[in-house]
Amino acid sequence: MREVVFRRGVPEDAAAIAELEILCFSSPWSRDALEKELTENPVARYFIGEAEGRTVAYAGLWLVVDQGHIINVAVHPAFRRQGLGKALIREMLRQTDQEGVTAYTLEVRLSNAAALALYQGFDFYVAGIRKNYYEEPVEDALILWRGSPDGEAKHIL
Ligand SMILES: CC(C)(COP(=O)(O)OP(=O)(O)OC[C@H]1O[C@@H](n2cnc3c(N)ncnc32)[C@H](O)[C@@H]1OP(=O)(O)O)[C@@H](O)C(=O)NCCC(=O)NCCS
Repeated sequence: MREVVFRRGVPEDAAAIAELEILCFSSPWSRDALEKELTENPVARYFIGEAEGRTVAYAGLWLVVDQGHIINVAVHPAFRRQGLGKALIREMLRQTDQEGVTAYTLEVRLSNAAALALYQGFDFYVAGIRKNYYEEPVEDALILWRGSPDGEAKHIL
């Protein structure tokens, strides 16, 4: 992996994150929405990966009591398949574990094989499906969990 430094996201990161969003998602978050997240949302935690002097990866999560709801994880296309996504998630889990998170969840497109493989490597499991959750293109979401919301893991797929 190229040399990458991880740090917590701050409001000044909104523009760089918005650029990554455009590169990585068909329905990107806007710079305004990200600025609000980083300034006004007390439960939001953002993590930035920097390499070669620029932002090349980010992850965002909401702390909901003792659960971590992962909002987005993205790696710049030119920096993929080098272990950066794995390192970013490891860092996010390490820091939010320290804040008392005992279980994590997120939605992911059914067809997103890269993300599914990445999360399975961290013991996330498929707990359900949200039909037609995504737009552009319309697609089902898989609901992943790591740990359990009620202390009892249920693998349905
Ligand atoms: C998903 C994503 C974050 C992975 O980032 P990355 O830096 O390339 O991931 P890593 O190099 O750390 O790979 C970690 C593991 O993920 C899996 N993986 C990553 N890319 C993959 C691909 N294209 N196909 C299959 N598995 C893949 C592999 O298991 C890999 O482990 P390995 O390299 O030991 O085989 C990146 O592809 C991305 O930003 N995609 C677009 C945005 C997105 O889909 N985000 C997730 C939404 S929930």
